[in-house]
Amino acid sequence: MSGFGHECAEIVRAARPGSYRIGMILGSGLGSLAEEVEDAVRIPYSHLTEFPVSTVTSHSSELVAGTLSGVPVVILSGRAHYYESGDPTVMRTPVETLKDLGCDILLATNAAGSLREDVAPGNPMLISDHINWSGKNPLIGEEDEKRFLDMSTAYDPELRGVMKKVAQETGAPLAEGVYMWFSGPSFETPAEIRMAKMLGADAVGMSTVPEVILARFLGMRVAALSIITNYGAGLQAQALSHDQTKSVAQTGMARMKELVRAFVKEIGHG
Ligand code: HPA
Repeated sequence: MSGFGHECAEIVRAARPGSYRIGMILGSGLGSLAEEVEDAVRIPYSHLTEFPVSTVTSHSSELVAGTLSGVPVVILSGRAHYYESGDPTVMRTPVETLKDLGCDILLATNAAGSLREDVAPGNPMLISDHINWSGKNPLIGEEDEKRFLDMSTAYDPELRGVMKKVAQETGAPLAEGVYMWFSGPSFETPAEIRMAKMLGADAVGMSTVPEVILARFLGMRVAALSIITNYGAGLQAQALSHDQTKSVAQTGMARMKELVRAFVKEIGHG
C-alpha cells in the first residue's frame, strides 16, 4: 500500500528544486510558523495529488517549502484528522511527500489538553511516548513484514535531547510527557480523563499518533510537541471548546516559535 507521495514531491520540486532536511506538521492554531519560512514556495493542498484538505477551521491547508534558520524545511500547515473521514491512513500521502523530498526528520505539533496541574495552558510539552487509545492504526492492511514496527523509540531520544537542550538555552519552559490519542471529534468526558491519568497519560489529543506511526514506518526520525490549550475535561471550570483550542494555540505558538527555530538550527547545522 502506498500513497501519492512521490507525485506530490515532484510537484514541489518543480516549484522549488532542492532537497529538504526537516518536515513539519502544524496543528490547530499553530500555522503562524509557516509565515516565517524564507525563500518559500506555498502550494495549496488542493494542487497536490490526493492531499487531504482539512475541514477544521483553524487549518490553512498549504505546503510551504523553503528555509527556516537557514535549514531547508517543508512545512505542512494544517493536517487532516482521523475524525474527519474515519480513515487512519489519511496522512499517508503528506508524510510520504516529506520523506520523498528528503526529510529524514519529522517534527509534529498539535494542540492538546493537559492532565497535569503543573503543565498549564499556553505551554509546550515535548512528547516522550504515546498511548493509542483509538485502537486504529494506519498500518492495518499493510502486507509487508515492516508492518510489525518497533515503537520503543518512536519519539527519538536524541532529538528529544536536542529539544530539551535548546529549551534550556532559550529559557523556554518545556514539560515532557505521554500523549494519549482519542479519536475525537467530541472531547473526552471527565471519566475518560480520570482513566487517561490512571493509565499514565500527561496530555490528550485527537491527532499526531497515526502520523508518527507512518513516519516511523517510512524510516523517519520523529520529534513531537504539544501546545497545551486547556486542562482536560473535568479539570477546569470552563467547558471545552474549539475556540479555546484555537486562541490559546495561537498565543502558545508565539512562545514555541523560538524553540522550534532553535531546534531546527541545531539539527540543521549540527
Ligand atoms: N482533548 C482532545 N483534544 C484536544 C484537547 C483536549 O482536551 N485540547 C486540544 N485538543
